[in-house]
Amino acid sequence: MLRNKNIIVGVTGSIAAYKSAFLVRLLVKAGANVKVVMTAAAAEFITPLTLSTLSKNPVLTDFKKNESGEWNNHVELGLWADAMIIAPASANTIAKMANGICDNLLAAVYLSVRCKVYVAPAMDLDMLKHPSTSDNLKRIASFGNGIINPGIGELASGLIGEGRMAEPEEIISFLEKEFTKHLPLSGKNVLVTAGPTYEAIDPVRFIGNHSSGKMGFAIAEELANQGATVSLICGPNQLTVVNKNIQRRDVTSAEELYNWCKILAKVYDIAILSAAVADFKPAKIANQKIKKTVADQSIQLVPTIDTLAELGKTKKKNQILVGFALETENEIENAKTKIKKKNLDFIVLNSLKDKGAGFKTDTNKISIIDKYNKITTFGLKNKSEVAKDIIAEILKPEK
Ligand code: CTP
Repeated sequence: MLRNKNIIVGVTGSIAAYKSAFLVRLLVKAGANVKVVMTAAAAEFITPLTLSTLSKNPVLTDFKKNESGEWNNHVELGLWADAMIIAPASANTIAKMANGICDNLLAAVYLSVRCKVYVAPAMDLDMLKHPSTSDNLKRIASFGNGIINPGIGELASGLIGEGRMAEPEEIISFLEKEFTKHLPLSGKNVLVTAGPTYEAIDPVRFIGNHSSGKMGFAIAEELANQGATVSLICGPNQLTVVNKNIQRRDVTSAEELYNWCKILAKVYDIAILSAAVADFKPAKIANQKIKKTVADQSIQLVPTIDTLAELGKTKKKNQILVGFALETENEIENAKTKIKKKNLDFIVLNSLKDKGAGFKTDTNKISIIDKYNKITTFGLKNKSEVAKDIIAEILKPEK
């Protein structure tokens, strides 16, 4: 969520300034572009060198950039930012913010930015409790600034109470929530299945298929990028998850995949089942490796549980259920039958006949068939673009 976001970190004079080093490090790790502005008092607690090294950008402390008369343009900086976070925010800086006092670069940047500003106060408990500080905090909140409340604990003074700056990890998750709040899928729980399943024959062999899981992973990433909380149930694969809002559960067999989906069936808002689940499994799994000395070997197969069909049976009115179909013949007719049989809102059809579509590739070519039999066909695209098309279909207003 913080990837590629431009974030100004404002650091003011407080013993908690050391925590801003961790904050900057976590922001950079999350993929944000960070520029630090410090007050002169902050530079007494932590060196600009530490923060410029961690942020990979020069730290700004003064209007004056250098002796040749250049200056640090606070207006430009204000326009650059997607968010400004003042952490730690001292009682003094909070008072200045509440009253429009602009006697240092940080205050000028604060007054110039067009983005939302977040404030993480840090001070002694009595300073925080003082009516002037609480009035100032209320006032800056009324201007639309976000307040990240301080925690309770032992303070630098040795007193115990409220006033500790929120921990950098808490600030990061606060910011992540803020950035997802206005996204189209914010607050939605989405279940995604991906990859193949392996059905054991004996301790070393299995029945599987060529699915790589790439389509399902691309769907999960795109859903999370659009604000959803995603549970990704995936069969054996070589892929990694990037977005922190994806909770990944690795499974092997169709039965394990079903067991997770059954648990999540009551709570999902949207379920997209893209896994290439094995339709059959051996009736019995041999305890020992089957030896080749046995002539005329045959394996009796029984159907696996059809997770998509089971979810279709229990689907509530407000839940959206999407299936996939990989067909080699009578594609449209077979896909339409599956929509009805499995009680789907729509089905994503990919054909093995299309070059660049299907297993293992980074591209796919799909058609979406909805429950009213409306067919939309898309060109060959990168799987993350395909994922966007599928999500756009979900976000279409109900016909
Ligand atoms: N699916 C599932 N559990 C299974 C089999 C399939 O959840 N045991 C889901 C797949 O994830 C996909 C959809 O059902 O979303 C379609 O699977 P597919 O194998 O193409 O269709 P089937 O209904 O199994 O029919 P057939 O194999 O006869 O085409």
